[in-house]
Amino acid sequence: MNLYVIGRPINHSLSPLIHNYWLKKYKKKEIYGKLDLNEKDLQNIIKKISNQEILGVNVTIPYKQKTYSLLENLNINATKSFAVNTIYRKNEKVYGENTDGKGFCEALIQETGFKFKQKKILVLGAGGASYGVVSEILQRDVNEILISNRTSTKSELLIQNFNNYSKQIKSLSWENLAPDKSIDLIINTTSVGLKEGECININLDYVSKKVIYSDLIYNPKKTETMKMFEEKGLLTQNGLGMLVNQAALSFKLWFNINLTLEDINEARKLCEKSN
Ligand code: ATR
Repeated sequence: MNLYVIGRPINHSLSPLIHNYWLKKYKKKEIYGKLDLNEKDLQNIIKKISNQEILGVNVTIPYKQKTYSLLENLNINATKSFAVNTIYRKNEKVYGENTDGKGFCEALIQETGFKFKQKKILVLGAGGASYGVVSEILQRDVNEILISNRTSTKSELLIQNFNNYSKQIKSLSWENLAPDKSIDLIINTTSVGLKEGECININLDYVSKKVIYSDLIYNPKKTETMKMFEEKGLLTQNGLGMLVNQAALSFKLWFNINLTLEDINEARKLCEKSN
């Protein structure tokens, strides 16, 4: 039985590199491949997992929300983020889980030592990636989350979806973005920076010297926005750590193996070399 990452486009996915490294290291016979699919093929994939023709899959853009709506059994993080990035079989049932948010938080802690408790966090973007990250950081006893998105109706919708936490989560205008020194962490979940030369229009005159900028983008390794923060002497992180950590959490769901920090760092180095 094999494993796959499914999405469209899927050519550039680094997930096969990461998982095949761990599969070999742990002497597993499975192979992890990639499948470029139509939306209508999703149901068939779920059936193959149910029939044990496929061990499990990772789901990526643009099918995370669609997969969420197709699965009957959802784990807590999938439910909270309205998205599924991992499908696995357990006790004869097929489950959907989302490991993106936890993967993000673990990478941030590993790389920067960040502590979430009572922190104020600015999240840029209100698309699929934002839901995964926001749902997880809301669990970590933060003081406040500000959501800023180009289209304000989408940030309002995100806030409505998390209305159980309405005291902690507020929107901030995308126009004239100028975070003040109370912000401890800025997370970019938008796609701004994927294309060469793109930079987020954000004024850094008022930020704290301790603010951390975390970009979910890992290709390019350093976005223009990351460079802008670094020129001010501020700490930044790209999305590679999140990618590898969400993969490690998926691996645990399929094989019940807790990968070590060494396994995670080795896979990360492989990705860095291939980029
Ligand atoms: P993903 O699943 O990767 O989050 P998405 O759901 O399409 O993808 O969301 C993309 C995010 O990037 C959105 O927050 C989007 O803002 P809008 O809601 O206004 O579309 C943001 N985004 C994309 N291009 C942008 C740009 N040029 N300027 C600002 N925000 C942008």
